[in-house]
Amino acid sequence: MANTVIQVNDLTKIFETKKEKVTALQDVNLTIKNREFVVLVGASGCGKTTLINTIAGFEKPTSGEVLLHGEPVTGIDPRCGMVFQQYALFDWKTVINNVDFGLKMKGMKLKERRELAQQYIDMVGLQGFENAYPSQLSGGMKQRVSLARTLANNPEIMLLDEPFAALDAMTRQVLQEELIRIYSESQKTILFITHSIDEALLLSTRVSVMTSRPGKIKQFLENDLPWPRDADVQLHPRYQELKSEVWSTVQEEVMKTAGLLGADKDKC
Ligand SMILES: Nc1ncnc2c1ncn2[C@@H]1O[C@H](COP(=O)(O)OP(=O)(O)OP(=O)(O)O)[C@@H](O)[C@H]1O
Ligand SMILES: [Mg+2]
Repeated sequence: MANTVIQVNDLTKIFETKKEKVTALQDVNLTIKNREFVVLVGASGCGKTTLINTIAGFEKPTSGEVLLHGEPVTGIDPRCGMVFQQYALFDWKTVINNVDFGLKMKGMKLKERRELAQQYIDMVGLQGFENAYPSQLSGGMKQRVSLARTLANNPEIMLLDEPFAALDAMTRQVLQEELIRIYSESQKTILFITHSIDEALLLSTRVSVMTSRPGKIKQFLENDLPWPRDADVQLHPRYQELKSEVWSTVQEEVMKTAGLLGADKDKC
C-alpha cells in the first residue's frame, strides 16, 4: 500500500551460538503506516529488541524480509533514527559532540548545529553537562543524550527501544509529553518499545503485543483515546477498558515467562 512505511513479512531470526540455537522471532508480520505511533509490549526476552534492530538494519533476517517504503532493508537507513535500549553513545565524545554528530555528518555548519544540539540538550534536561563524557553520566542521563541525538537528527521514522525505562518518573513524564508534541507537530512514523502498559496507552495510536519467545505479534489494538494527550488521559472512561484489554492479552504471555508470575498490571 502506498502509505505503508514499515512492512515486516514472515520474519524469522535465529541466533546461533557455539552452544545453541535461539529462535528469537518466528514468522513475524507487521505493517506500520505513515504517521502511525505503534507501541510494542511483551515479556522480557520475547524478541522486541531483535525485531526493532532488524527493522533498523542492525540485524539480518534468517528468513523473511523487512521493507521500508517498499524497498528491502539492506543496512542502516538514514531515514530511521534509533534510540537503543543500551544507549550506544560515543564514549570518546562529549555530550554535545554526541548530540550534534548526525548534524555534522549531514554537513550542517558548526554554529547552526551547536544551536540545534543545545536546544535538544535543554529539552532533555541536560543543560550544564554539554562537555561531560558518557562515563561521567548516570544510565538515565545517557539515555537522554541518546534521545536528544535522535530528535536533533529529525528522522522520518523513529525506532525507540525502551527510551524512557531508565528515567525517574518526573523526567519520564516531561519527555513523554515532548514526544507527544513532536509526534503531533510532525509527520513522523514511530515504533516504540516499552514494558509499561500505561506508557503504551498514553503514546500510541496502536498497541501491539508480542508473544513469549519465539516472538510473534499476538494482538493489535487500535488506541482510540482522544488527542492531544497528557498524563490525565488515565482519567478518560475508555482508559481502563483499553488497559484491561491489553493486560489480559499480555498476562498469558507474561505467565509463560519464568520469574514474572507476580508481575503488577503496569509491567509486562
Ligand atoms: N546476539 C545474540 N546472540 C544470541 N542470542 C541473542 C542475541 N540477541 C538476542 N538473543 C536472544 O534472543 C531472545 C530475544 O532477545 P531480545 O533482546 O530481542 O528480547 P527483548 O524482548 O528485547 O527483551 P527485554 O524486554 O528484556 O529487552 C533472547 O532469548 C535473547 O537471549
Ligand atoms: Mg529489549
